[in-house]
Amino acid sequence: MENIILKVEGVSKSFPGVKALDKVNLELRSGEVVALLGENGAGKSTLMKILSGVHKKDQGKIFFEGKEVNLGDPKESQNLGINIIYQEFNLFPDLTVAENIFITREPRNKIFNFIVKDKKLIEEAQKMLDMVHLNIDPTTKVSELSVAQQQMVEIAKVLSMNSKIVIMDEPTAALTDEEVQELFRVINELKKQGKGIIYISHRLEELEFIADRCTIFRDGKYIDSFIYKDTTIDKLITSMVGRDLDQQFPRVEVPRGKLALEVRKLKEEKKLDIKDFNLYEGEILGIYGLMGSGRTEFARAIFGADKVKEEDIYIYGKKTNIKNPEEAVKQGIGYITEDRKKDGLALGLSVEHNINLSMLDEFSRFSVMNDKSANENAEKYVKDLRIKVPSIDQLTKNLSGGNQQKVVLGKWLGKNVKILILDEPTRGIDVGAKIEVYEVMNRLKKEGVAIIMISSELPEVIGMSDRIMVMRDGKFTGKINRQDATEEKLLSYAVSRK
Ligand SMILES: Nc1ncnc2c1ncn2[C@@H]1O[C@H](COP(=O)(O)OP(=O)(O)OP(=O)(O)O)[C@@H](O)[C@H]1O
Ligand SMILES: [Mg+2]
Repeated sequence: MENIILKVEGVSKSFPGVKALDKVNLELRSGEVVALLGENGAGKSTLMKILSGVHKKDQGKIFFEGKEVNLGDPKESQNLGINIIYQEFNLFPDLTVAENIFITREPRNKIFNFIVKDKKLIEEAQKMLDMVHLNIDPTTKVSELSVAQQQMVEIAKVLSMNSKIVIMDEPTAALTDEEVQELFRVINELKKQGKGIIYISHRLEELEFIADRCTIFRDGKYIDSFIYKDTTIDKLITSMVGRDLDQQFPRVEVPRGKLALEVRKLKEEKKLDIKDFNLYEGEILGIYGLMGSGRTEFARAIFGADKVKEEDIYIYGKKTNIKNPEEAVKQGIGYITEDRKKDGLALGLSVEHNINLSMLDEFSRFSVMNDKSANENAEKYVKDLRIKVPSIDQLTKNLSGGNQQKVVLGKWLGKNVKILILDEPTRGIDVGAKIEVYEVMNRLKKEGVAIIMISSELPEVIGMSDRIMVMRDGKFTGKINRQDATEEKLLSYAVSRK
């Protein structure tokens, strides 16, 4: 067909110990969205990195607009018009939003080439921000932005390039529902302009808004392609995981235990204003709220990560005054953050090291690590959580996004936690792995751990929680039992009524 802009034929790629891609195929036409689907570690990001020139293929052919191209140099891919929005952010935190958008392409003074035209830069950046309806000052430093805002800046950056192919690798993982709608609007706009889009996401419910075709990879292999409107989500899932999944949310019933955490009052400078929050042993308490509602601030305050103004908090009936995360951990509180790259993981260290990181004190005496137990511990969690990795010595940065998230989980599971706060625990995790994470949560629940699950995925909140609390503007605005929970109800508490 003439409007095929990209054709990948039999492409393979190996890393030491892993065959990431084994003769995969992919076709993309202009004006269409191809959703590339597959479990964690299926090879999706690896192929995208080959297309964007970060990795070189070992084997196979790639045709761009009918001509065979070699690829392997990011500049070359960019010049061809292949642009990528990465799964893990790629922005420079110390530069401004405008500088990040136009990095290496800053409008320069024609004669004095080294002078970057600041005013022009800011104006141009503003245009891009307007396109994605992101209401921030282009001179803000990226480090001051939320995860979601950073993601929108990434998107604005790609829009500013003259692309023919736009690759989005889990672009919505950090976005709120509203921002996702905004992104879909942008995608449909790009489609109309005749661009080809490769869209990677683990949120299958998004496909109906954008996908024209779906291509499935499994364990580095090409499995199948479907026209989206001629298939079903069940078929896609079966094809992704290679087996039928019977239950998406395997909730277990556990009798509620003692009152583990009682927050009578919690106030922080900016927005938090919490009263009467109770959490019991053996329950999963879901906290739902839109981004910016104060969910993460609440978690951080409990964990002693941020300063609070006023607090009256009890753990197992004893008044506490947690000043920092170390104290929180000592009191048996665990916290898995939403931003694994920033707080959760040491990407430059091995999987073993990361799993054992938060528990060094349990394994070491006089800070000499006992190799054997650390090793066994890491092996155990890699196996339990089915972390896909050739060995526990692998550097964490080389793991697929979803497998990184599982390492974060493993890191906390070994700890003797009584109260566990999970902030977006299944962000970026595939359907199969999600169930594995839920099962780990169930196991902890049965052991009597009190779990707070912060999530912006409504089906997950409703499917896994025993009770649900909804946040808005730093306050809890609704309390709902699981039997009464509906998406409409949760949303109505979460959205401000003006
Ligand atoms: N630089 C690297 N060095 C070693 N192994 C790597 C590297 N990059 C990826 N891999 C491995 O290649 C395989 C495919 O990873 P990839 O990131 O492409 O998966 P993915 O489909 O994007 O998964 P996810 O949905 O979790 O993001 C994984 O086993 C991963 O650990
Ligand atoms: Mg990936």
